[in-house]
Amino acid sequence: MYKVGLTGGIGCGKSTVSELFKQHNTPIIDADEIAHALVMPGQKALKQISDYFGQRCLFTDGSLNRASLREIIFNDAEKKHQLENIVHPLVYAEIERQLSLLTGPYCIIAIPLLIETKMQSLVDHILVIDCPMEMQINRVKLRDNLNNSQITAMINSQVSRAERLTHADSIIDNTQDITFLDKQVNNLHKQFLKQTK
Ligand SMILES: Nc1ncnc2c1ncn2[C@@H]1O[C@H](COP(=O)(O)OP(=O)(O)O)[C@@H](O)[C@H]1O
Ligand SMILES: [Mg+2]
Repeated sequence: MYKVGLTGGIGCGKSTVSELFKQHNTPIIDADEIAHALVMPGQKALKQISDYFGQRCLFTDGSLNRASLREIIFNDAEKKHQLENIVHPLVYAEIERQLSLLTGPYCIIAIPLLIETKMQSLVDHILVIDCPMEMQINRVKLRDNLNNSQITAMINSQVSRAERLTHADSIIDNTQDITFLDKQVNNLHKQFLKQTK
């Protein structure tokens, strides 16, 4: 099966594009969804996180207090690194597990931090969803309840647009409307269907 890694900065349109591929019945593996499920109560990642960061990263019902965890790792590179060391290997293990269950000509693996985690070799083709930073900021502002400086900080914690684009085998230009996006997805879908790996 041909593995297409879908990536892009926050707000560039990864989820929107994933949905369009889903309409072609393309199997999608979603790293964000996996990471979210991994820290649900009872999961081993949550146990490892609370062992390392202490009870302050949990609510009293035992679920993960994301805001508290975000605050703990903010400006603390070592703690951020520790969190990544817990979560990332488990995410990639689950991606491999899901991959082993799939059949078909190709699949999409949506991994926001594909380049940042240096996991390019996991996929056969890197598809970058791209738009300028001002557009990212405006879209995230409309989607989430965050201010400019919070959004800019998130963008700056990811690789730059220029750096990401150097890794791209294909680029989806998400600077226009959904019709324009859909047209690009249709063309790529046809191209990926022809892959015989
Ligand atoms: N071409 C577009 N035109 C208008 N709004 C868009 C477009 N692409 C994405 N959006 C909106 O911008 C926000 C960010 O897109 P999303 O797909 O969630 O990005 P990501 O998953 O990369 O963070 C969402 O609210 C989405 O509906
Ligand atoms: Mg998304």
